Amino acid sequence: MDRVERSLTDRDGWEPTLYDTKLGFNTGFGQDLVELLAPRPGETILDLGCGTGDLAHRIAARGATVIGIDRSPTMLGRAREKYPSIEFVQADGQNFAFPPATFDAVFSNAALHWMKDAAGVVACVWNVLKPGGRFVAEFGGKGNIQAVVEAITAVLGAAGYPVDGRNPWYYPTIGEYATLLERQGFRVTRALHFDRPTRLDDGERGLENWLTMFAGTFFEGIPDSQRAALYASIASRLRPLLFHDGTWVIDYVRLRVVAVRER
Ligand code: BEZ
Repeated sequence: MDRVERSLTDRDGWEPTLYDTKLGFNTGFGQDLVELLAPRPGETILDLGCGTGDLAHRIAARGATVIGIDRSPTMLGRAREKYPSIEFVQADGQNFAFPPATFDAVFSNAALHWMKDAAGVVACVWNVLKPGGRFVAEFGGKGNIQAVVEAITAVLGAAGYPVDGRNPWYYPTIGEYATLLERQGFRVTRALHFDRPTRLDDGERGLENWLTMFAGTFFEGIPDSQRAALYASIASRLRPLLFHDGTWVIDYVRLRVVAVRER
């Protein structure tokens, strides 16, 4: 069995090895977003929620100076190991600061759905952008992983572990998110809400990897000895919907936005 071992440096719930080896799909999909960002040599660009740094590296390869921020020290540790020439800083995307007008662009892939204080994120992004600067982001939109959340909720509820208050994610509609951006003063030049069914690596084991990596808050305080059975019940509920030809295909729905700080 090629089970990925828990990283010894895992202190904050994120597992960089599991992320990079089995759950790298966000980096793959994010390359498209880098094209939309269209980084230019000489620009200074913030990667908000940079994880293990692969997209920061792609942006830097286009000649821009990149700073990556992330809340997870373990993910940042891996980013620094992989890309020592890029600056990575630990910061909360809902409450961070750089000197005003530091960046030509702020980029964010697959991170903003972890930040429930979306107005805080938008205000910080505004403050660090230069006039004329752009914000290019993609994250989970309304309806993202709805079947997965419903299965977790049903299984944990039936086992006596109600999920109240444990859902860590924020999945807005275009209307909700564009309103936040416009209230801040941004001009929203693009917004797209689309289905993106996402194939997981590792066959049968793919869903367990996904739950281990991303859904930890639902299982906090539940003894490890019970987790395998709970994961198995979640998998059997989801199998008819999301398991096809030996592969888990998760019901991702994305929101992609481009907004400009004009003044
Ligand atoms: C996402 O990329 O949509 C996502 C990733 C992990 C947990 C929830 C959503």
